[in-house]
Amino acid sequence: MIEHSLSLCYHNKLILAPMVRVGTLPMRLLALDYGADIVYCEELIDLKMLQCKRVVNEVLSTVDFVAPDDRVVFRTCKREQSRVVFQMGGMGAALLSDPDKIEKILSTLVKGTRRPVTCKIRILPSLEDTLSLVKRIERTGIAAVAVHGRKREERPQHPVSCEAIRAIAETLSIPVIANGGSHDHIQEYLDIEDFRQATAASSVMVARAAMWNPSIFLKEGLRPLEEVMQKYIRYAVQYENHYTNTKYCLCQMLREQLESPQGRLLHAAQSSQEICEAFGLGAFYEEMTQELNARRAEFLARTPEAAGEPAEDTSGIIKMAVKFDRRAYSPQITPKMCLLEWCRREKLAQPVYDTVQRPLDRLFCSVVTVAEQKYQSTLWDKSKKLAEQAAAIVCLRSRGLPEGRLGEESPSLHKRKREAPDQDPGGPRAQESAVPGKLCKKPFVALGSGEESPLEGW
Ligand SMILES: Cc1cc2nc3c(=O)[nH]c(=O)nc-3n(C[C@H](O)[C@H](O)[C@H](O)COP(=O)(O)O)c2cc1C
Repeated sequence: MIEHSLSLCYHNKLILAPMVRVGTLPMRLLALDYGADIVYCEELIDLKMLQCKRVVNEVLSTVDFVAPDDRVVFRTCKREQSRVVFQMGGMGAALLSDPDKIEKILSTLVKGTRRPVTCKIRILPSLEDTLSLVKRIERTGIAAVAVHGRKREERPQHPVSCEAIRAIAETLSIPVIANGGSHDHIQEYLDIEDFRQATAASSVMVARAAMWNPSIFLKEGLRPLEEVMQKYIRYAVQYENHYTNTKYCLCQMLREQLESPQGRLLHAAQSSQEICEAFGLGAFYEEMTQELNARRAEFLARTPEAAGEPAEDTSGIIKMAVKFDRRAYSPQITPKMCLLEWCRREKLAQPVYDTVQRPLDRLFCSVVTVAEQKYQSTLWDKSKKLAEQAAAIVCLRSRGLPEGRLGEESPSLHKRKREAPDQDPGGPRAQESAVPGKLCKKPFVALGSGEESPLEGW
């Protein structure tokens, strides 16, 4: 297990341990609020991170690491900047049986970065082997070692070995961070210091006790869970945490109370809004989403697309600014159905939809490929289905085909569209409007007419 960290010192620190799914931004901020000095993020797979783009999210004031499929893999913000540890790895305790590899990875990391590197291990079957491993680890030049005082195959219900951690702390010169004390040793704030003393460690890293109630880091003592969960939810909404992750973390906090009326509501929640409502935070959700939407609209108004300026498109994709409005179509017909039917009639391969979601606002955009030509709407949609319908409309309109719109039976319109040849190759390219029914002759970005404003839906 390897971690990169910022400039941190590991003496006398309260640390939120790495926890996959739990250690996302809302939990880290909450732990910091309650008094944690350092927070480890959820485990990030280094290969995945290498493929990510680093994006400044102006709406949320965060920095997002965005995967090629537009998923946000990691979100961080300025407040935690000097206190967050990026945990890279994905190898888990399996690496323990290969000390040569551990040494090689750590030495390479230490040489390759100016930031302190730490490493988290479990203990080996014999104390002698454990001590010889940690000595090798120390020689790589890492800043601190965190020791989870259990063996690889041991479960949380097995007792943690304070003696093994103590032996390591007494052997090494670098700081040792004691871990594994939740439940048996750590149930409230004062227990953290007792665990540190029992292990002679420099610092303590807490996982489960913080997952159950992050106010474990508060020196005044634990806060009531209801209050803690409300604070957690506020962060989750403010930073647009995915509702499934929010729900998972709240379930960990509720634990035995999952069968309570609130637990049942949480279990049934299928969105951040429903989670908020289950906790009496419906009004907060409304206010916060309105605020974020206003920020987003303001941000988009500064981009060329929203400002209505035609942008040159070099991608070869035919684009129009269209949205699928169900009310404008016959009840049983959709543009996708029309397109599929037309492809079948023309003996073409069936349309292929490639849809992405952008992290900024979670809106969707779809590109449909028909007869090796790609089509896309420049307007982003709230759902994958709507985005695909919009892409189908672009294809149908640019080919002059019926799309199922009410009252569209206008053979002359379709005829005119079909007749329009690919004229004037050197003529103006970006001026074609996206008024329904007009042919998009060239790959270009045509921006919305009054009917389909780029800001529609905000
Ligand atoms: C939900 C959960 C996720 C965890 N994920 C990780 C992880 O990604 N990387 C890691 O090194 N340890 C992980 N752990 C282990 C903890 O960091 C810690 O070593 C262990 O829970 C013992 O500490 P505790 O007694 O304070 O809970 C996880 C533990 C939990 C409960």
